[in-house]
Amino acid sequence: MSFADELITTAQAMVTPGKGILAADESAPTIEKRFKSIDVASTEENRRSYRELLFTTQGADEFVSGVILFDETIRQSAGDGTPFPKLLASQGIIPGIKVDKGAKPLPGSPNEKVTEGLDGLRDRLIEYRGLGARFAKWRAVIAIGDDIPSANCIHTNAHALARYAALCVEQGLVPIVEPEVLMDGSHTLERCHDVTSRTLSATFHELFLQGVPLEQIILKPNMVLSGKDCPQQASVRQVAEATIDCFLNTVPAAVPGICFLSGGQSDEDATAHLNEMNRIGGFPWEMSFSYGRALQAPALKAWGGKADQVPAAQRAYYHRAKCNGAARYGKYTPDMEKAA
Ligand code: 13P
Repeated sequence: MSFADELITTAQAMVTPGKGILAADESAPTIEKRFKSIDVASTEENRRSYRELLFTTQGADEFVSGVILFDETIRQSAGDGTPFPKLLASQGIIPGIKVDKGAKPLPGSPNEKVTEGLDGLRDRLIEYRGLGARFAKWRAVIAIGDDIPSANCIHTNAHALARYAALCVEQGLVPIVEPEVLMDGSHTLERCHDVTSRTLSATFHELFLQGVPLEQIILKPNMVLSGKDCPQQASVRQVAEATIDCFLNTVPAAVPGICFLSGGQSDEDATAHLNEMNRIGGFPWEMSFSYGRALQAPALKAWGGKADQVPAAQRAYYHRAKCNGAARYGKYTPDMEKAA
């Protein structure tokens, strides 16, 4: 049986106008790091209650089309016993699952990484679909430095992304294809444009070679940004124009949507950049968000691990979701921050 029609429908639903994706798929080491920043121990119960807080936020479904879960989270339930995938689906939010096993050192190039997790992936996808997941995510990491990225790093990661995507399509999950060019470093906007262009071209070349139907995938890339330590930071307008230019030259129009990661941008920057792109317009894809930190940071801080702060944390999450929902139409204004 082919899942083609279902996958096209799911991919389009993931990029419904006005909505985007919440990335809540922090791996064990990453959520520990996030919890450490608010002085909360990373126990299974704390991770569960934090995710329950997010998934039970009233009205989030107005702006959130899907949520990416981690392996532990897709098996957990809300306090009333409802499994998280069911809880999300009951609100019309599509459950998804992170399936890569992390970025590991690339042999022969100590400062570069290759994402692992292909062995046994077909069986894991079958299990995740059974648990309610309808899309998946695989993140590849490309660092910019003096002599990197190497052609080998770009090629190896693109090949793995396409292997993963082909398996997802076979097993009935929409693959989120995530090649992330990191913002760490002092490189310029132009250098990020060049590396992102090369990364995306290689990725779509591999997707083509491996027969992945582009109508059935979602792309989750970085925006084209100045390096974090670059003395000359590009303006919101420059970021939006450079990003649109890069994607028009590398991403086929058959892809239904581009859902950006936030990648260490401040929450308000991530919203402003997305908003500017949608204000400019003139591209064939839905331009949306799949933010982790940029949707969660204020909520995590407001929560601080305290049960009586759950409503404040939910208000903070709802607010960021609403701002990004407005940015989907190019209708976000900084006043929305003050009004909250
Ligand atoms: P950030 O938005 O925090 O970069 O996370 C998105 C994500 O899912 C990275 O894989």
